[in-house]
Amino acid sequence: METLFDISGLEIDISMKTSVLHAVRGVSFSIGKAQTLCLVGESGSGKSLTALSILGLLPQGATRRVERMTFRGEDMAGLSERGMQDLRGRSISVIFQDPMMAFNPTMTIGRQLEEVYLRHIARDRKAATAKALDLLERVGVTQPATRMRQYPHQLSGGLRQRAMIAMALMCEPDLLIADEPTTALDVTMQAQVLTLLRSIQVSFGISILFITHDLGVVAAIADTVAVMKAGQIIEVGDVRQVLRSPREAYTKALIDAVPKVTPLLAQKAAALAVGEYVHG
Ligand SMILES: Nc1ncnc2c1ncn2[C@@H]1O[C@H](COP(=O)(O)OP(=O)(O)O)[C@@H](O)[C@H]1O
Ligand SMILES: [Mg+2]
Repeated sequence: METLFDISGLEIDISMKTSVLHAVRGVSFSIGKAQTLCLVGESGSGKSLTALSILGLLPQGATRRVERMTFRGEDMAGLSERGMQDLRGRSISVIFQDPMMAFNPTMTIGRQLEEVYLRHIARDRKAATAKALDLLERVGVTQPATRMRQYPHQLSGGLRQRAMIAMALMCEPDLLIADEPTTALDVTMQAQVLTLLRSIQVSFGISILFITHDLGVVAAIADTVAVMKAGQIIEVGDVRQVLRSPREAYTKALIDAVPKVTPLLAQKAAALAVGEYVHG
């Protein structure tokens, strides 16, 4: 399988008042083309920092060291801030738990989608509008032309989530980083968004780094799963294999912690032949 992204020996330190927190320690993984890697682990295990460090967006006081980081076979670790800016939003885009973080509240949805295209692809407003309309429709936003003229707060949570996904796709990225994008949604909406991401992945051929604390979500979307605990990856492998026969007690505990799932999510999981490991 062709590798799209590869990182090894990632270390992230955070300087605290009187000490240094080794938040991420020796993390290595790779993501295949058009594959989904799930980083799963409890809150505070270092998942978000890992994702942010790939984008060069670490919080103040945090420093990154990495042995090797490549994207499409090219070195990424030594990129300048300018080089990173070119990658972000164009070849690598990101979606968050809270779409309000992705959108500017004072600009219409359409304007914001178009901006991404105008900045990275071409200064062609007409083409940008057409692309935004097309993508909104493809992610299941009804009346896209009307939505384009609305402000983020005028959309429901589910629609905002879809609009954010459309925005992340404006430049047809190779890698989508999704940090707990469905955590704030109710279970039905969660299943819909996961199904949407899966179908987008197939039709666009993109790779996804998906972050979650929920192994039920992992069962629905991952090809490969990497289990994080206290800043380290303690278990990694094919999703079916890890869910079926976890090596680590911590992974077993995460599996046991999967709450009662909705029939929809259970169905998705069953379709992936791991349904029997999702409780409910
Ligand atoms: N800006 C920050 N300042 C201080 N500590 C932080 C900051 N961001 C994250 N941390 C700490 O780093 C660790 C990993 O955080 P994070 O990557 O956000 O975890 P996760 O996404 O798995 O919940 C946690 O202990 C967290 O408290
Ligand atoms: Mg997080």
